[in-house]
Amino acid sequence: MSRPRLPTAIELAHQLIRERLSPGDTAVDATVGNGHDTVFLASIVGAGGRVIGFDIQETAIQITAAKASGFPHVTLHVESHESIGKYVTGGVQAVMFNLGYLPGGDKSITTRPESTIKALNLSTNLLSGGGLITIAVYGGHPGGEQEATALEEWSRQLPQEGFGVAKYQFLNQRNSPPYLLVIGRR
Ligand SMILES: C[S@@+](CC[C@H](N)C(=O)[O-])C[C@H]1O[C@@H](n2cnc3c(N)ncnc32)[C@H](O)[C@@H]1O
Repeated sequence: MSRPRLPTAIELAHQLIRERLSPGDTAVDATVGNGHDTVFLASIVGAGGRVIGFDIQETAIQITAAKASGFPHVTLHVESHESIGKYVTGGVQAVMFNLGYLPGGDKSITTRPESTIKALNLSTNLLSGGGLITIAVYGGHPGGEQEATALEEWSRQLPQEGFGVAKYQFLNQRNSPPYLLVIGRR
């Protein structure tokens, strides 16, 4: 019998969300990119739920809109994730951040620590009890290390009474694969 290898950061994010997200829930894809996470969230929450997605690049929104065309409960915005509060006021069960640049796109357009942290602060307030924020963090591109450091500082100061914060990272792999920060609301 073959046994599974350790999950990648993205696979673990999906596993943790799959355990906590249900049909009818509201979820946010804060960085839609090529749309994989949007479609993942949309297929779990189903037609009775809602997925709201953000990306600052029109190209990413177009790619994702095509992938999510079978999911009318997905709404996409060509807007920074800092605008999350304009579209949802609470009761969010999952928020996914997948940082860095659009794979296959312009590598100079990346997430930035100031806007990412602003969106994360808003997201922590929108999360319902038992809700989860996953952040796939990439240190390998210019500015990536600074963003990673800023995010870890920010997540360490979240009060333990309200949130659990965890980090999952491979320590022996080449090419700086992404690692995962997870924030769970108690
Ligand atoms: C690694 S990709 C996301 C991959 C995506 N989750 C997927 O499943 O394909 C990162 C994306 O974040 C987007 N981005 C950068 N800054 C942003 C911001 N302030 N708000 C929303 N999206 C942003 C980039 O344009 C890029 O498409």
